[in-house]
Order: sequence, then C-alpha cells, then structure tokens
Amino acid sequence: MTQTLFITGGAGFIGSSLIRHLMANSDYHLVNIDKLTYAGNLANLATVQNNPRYHFAHLDIGDRAGLDALFAEHRPIGVIHLAAESHVDRSISSAGEFIMTNIVGTFTLLEAARAYYAGLADAEKANFRFHHVSTDEVFGSLGAEGFFTETTAYDPRSPYSASKASSDQLVRAWHHTYGLPIVVTNCSNNYGPYHFPEKLIPLMILNILAGKALPVYGKGDNVRDWLYVDDHALALQVVFEQGKLGDTYCIGGHNEKTNLEVVHTLCDLMDARFATDAALALAHPHCPAAQGKASRSLITYVADRPGHDHRYAIDASKLADELAWKPQETFDSGIAKTIDWYLTNQDWVKQVQSGDYQQWLEKNYQERK
Ligand code: NAD
Ligand code: DAU
Repeated sequence: MTQTLFITGGAGFIGSSLIRHLMANSDYHLVNIDKLTYAGNLANLATVQNNPRYHFAHLDIGDRAGLDALFAEHRPIGVIHLAAESHVDRSISSAGEFIMTNIVGTFTLLEAARAYYAGLADAEKANFRFHHVSTDEVFGSLGAEGFFTETTAYDPRSPYSASKASSDQLVRAWHHTYGLPIVVTNCSNNYGPYHFPEKLIPLMILNILAGKALPVYGKGDNVRDWLYVDDHALALQVVFEQGKLGDTYCIGGHNEKTNLEVVHTLCDLMDARFATDAALALAHPHCPAAQGKASRSLITYVADRPGHDHRYAIDASKLADELAWKPQETFDSGIAKTIDWYLTNQDWVKQVQSGDYQQWLEKNYQERK
C-alpha cells in the first residue's frame, strides 16, 4: 500500500538531503511542501525530481486552505516538518519572517494536521505522526563544560532560536492538549553539500576560492558541534519510524570545534588540494593557493554577532542507546567530502550566487507545475 509523507522545507539544505535519502532508502511517496524562499532551491532535488514517488507542492505553510487541500488529496501517514527561516544573522537584522514562518506557520501546519488526524479511522490514527525538526540553539549557550540533553531547560537567546523554541513548545502542546502524535528532534550544526553559502562553512569555502576575506566573528573562539547533513537525514528517518510518541531526541556528532579551527581546516585542506591539482589554479586564479600563498592570509576578524552564543554541544546518547543511530562520517571525512562537492559543483554555486536566482526558481517551478 502506498505510504505518503509530507516533508516541509524539502527544497532547503537539510530537507533536500532527507528527500534524497528517503528516495534511496524507503518506499515512501513524498510530497515536498515548500514556499521556495531565497533558501529553497529545486536544483537541490534534481536527482529525484523525475521519480514518480516525488511530488512538489509550492506552498507557504501559513496557507491553511492550501494545506487542507493537500492533506485531503494525499492522505499522508505523517509529516516531517523542516520548513523554517534558519539563519541567525538574518533573524537579528529582520525577525518578522521568523515569527511568521517558524511560529505562525508551525501553528497553521499543526492545526491542519490536527483537523486531518481527527478525521482518520482508528487504524490510520495509530500510524500517523508529526515529526518536528528543531535545533540545539533552543537550549541557549554552554560554558566550557557540559552537553545539551533532552532534559536541558530551554533558554533561547536569538530571534531565530526563540522562534524555534516557540514552535517546539507549540508542537508539544498540541500533543498534550489535543493528542496529536508527535516527536521532536533537536540537532546541532549541519554541514555538507547544497548548504546555502550564507552559513559559515560554505561561505568560507567559496570565499577562499574567490580570494575574498574570511570574516571571523569576534575572536573565533565560539564552539559549534558539527554533523554531516546526511547523518542528520538518517537520524530523522530513524526517529520518524521508531521514536517514542511524545518524546524528544537530541542529534549530534560529537564534533566540537572553535570557528577558528574550522576556518583553519578549510584553508589548509584547500591549499593541499591546489598543491596536487594544477587545474584548480587555472579555474580559481584569485585563490591565494593559486598564487603560492596560504589561504589563512584571508582571515579577517570582524565585529561579533550580537548575543553570540558561546558553545553548543549535544549528548546524543539517547538516540544511540534507544534507536541505535550513529553518524557515518567523522568531521575529517565529512569536511573532505564537502570541499570536494563545492569544487565539483561550481554550476550550482554560480546559480545560487547569481542575481538571477529567484527568477530561475520561478522558471523551474513553472516548468514543473
Ligand atoms: P534552509 O534555510 O536551508 O531551508 C529552509 C527551507 O524551508 C527552504 O527550502 C525554504 O524555501 C522553506 N521555507 C521557508 N519558509 C517557508 C514557508 N513559510 N513555507 C514553506 N516553506 C518554507 O534550512 P535548513 O538549514 O535546511 O534547516 C531545516 C530545518 O532544520 C529548520 O527547521 C532548522 O531550524 C532546522 N535545523 C537546522 C540546522 C542547521 O545546521 N542548518 C540544525 C538543526 C536544525
Ligand atoms: O546549531 C544549529 C544551528 O546551526 C541551526 O539551528 C541554524 O539553522 C544554523 O544556521 C546554524 O546556526 P549557527 O549560527 O551556529 O550557524 P552559522 O553558520 O551562521 O555560524 C556558525 C558559527 O560561525 C557561529 O558561531 C557564527 C560564526 N560565523 C558565521 C558566519 C556566517 C562567523 O564567524 N563568520 C561568518 O561569516
């Protein structure tokens, strides 16, 4: 029997990894519900777009009538909800969209799911679940010691993390009050292919290639806990299928690094690649390595992010112990794959960086509608 899942935000960085993963590792039919903001890119799904198990719905999660129509048409067995505004710096300069999508949009999606769930037969109800995908940033900031766990008290400190914390609590309230079957995951920093280059790792890779300054906020001593994006996708499948209803699972890869360590690693790996591949210097003549200089020379310390959380670190032992998930990639293997991906996918990079990006999205959408 066909089992359909709704994936919201499937044209983004993590959502597209999840869709590619589920296309290869499940029989689900997937409906990707995405508004295609600046961060949504159908090119991320080029490898699956012609698969008959994949369907695209161009929709804002704040559109209740549109959601109701999709639920009625596709009758999903579950929702994995990733759609969000995701960039902390953008939330600091302009929080409105974060409130509208992350809080009001999640509320609207919950209400549509609740109405659909109420109309299901008992056997269908037993199979349905709403999986909310969230972040470790809801827990606030750690000092030098300790880890976030499922029982850590919430202490969000940026407009982004406050909006995600609100959405997490709405999802839990819909479970406790209305009996909607839910699971929540809180994950650490992801990195990997198709990462929009406003975020630290892809921004640094592309700036090194272009010979542009590498803007390190503050002293570069803030710590993030990095997870390869496909390992997150695997964890999402495991929790969606086997997680205990009403529970929360923390996801992380035990890869704590200061930002400066990450930037140094990227500079040194890039220099090593240029040293062994003469074609790279021809393709990227502005890269310091093409001129016999060290990429670290591009590092520029800039004003700190306001309210910059010092350290994030996840203890993922509940997920490992109860559901036997463990990451496949180390930081070394994942970062090497990531650099290779950006070097070999320069067409994607140019398209994402070009001023034509939004027009391209619309054209692509019109062609696929
Ligand atoms: P992203 O910014 O790359 O993608 C977000 C996607 O959501 C885009 O495709 C966008 O078009 C879509 N979207 C935005 N507003 C929408 C709306 N109103 N209606 C429908 N679609 C909309 O984000 P990401 O990095 O892939 O993150 C996905 C989810 O995972 C988010 O909920 C984020 O909070 C969470 N998360 C991200 C990380 C990380 O390191 N990137 C870590 C933990 C959790
Ligand atoms: O922890 C999970 C979160 O990770 C997710 O919920 C967010 O959606 C995701 O964007 C990410 O948030 P961060 O703020 O940690 O990621 P970002 O890549 O923006 O920044 C990583 C660190 O690097 C952070 O300490 C700020 C710093 N930084 C970032 C940029 C863009 C710089 O020093 N220079 C930069 O230019």
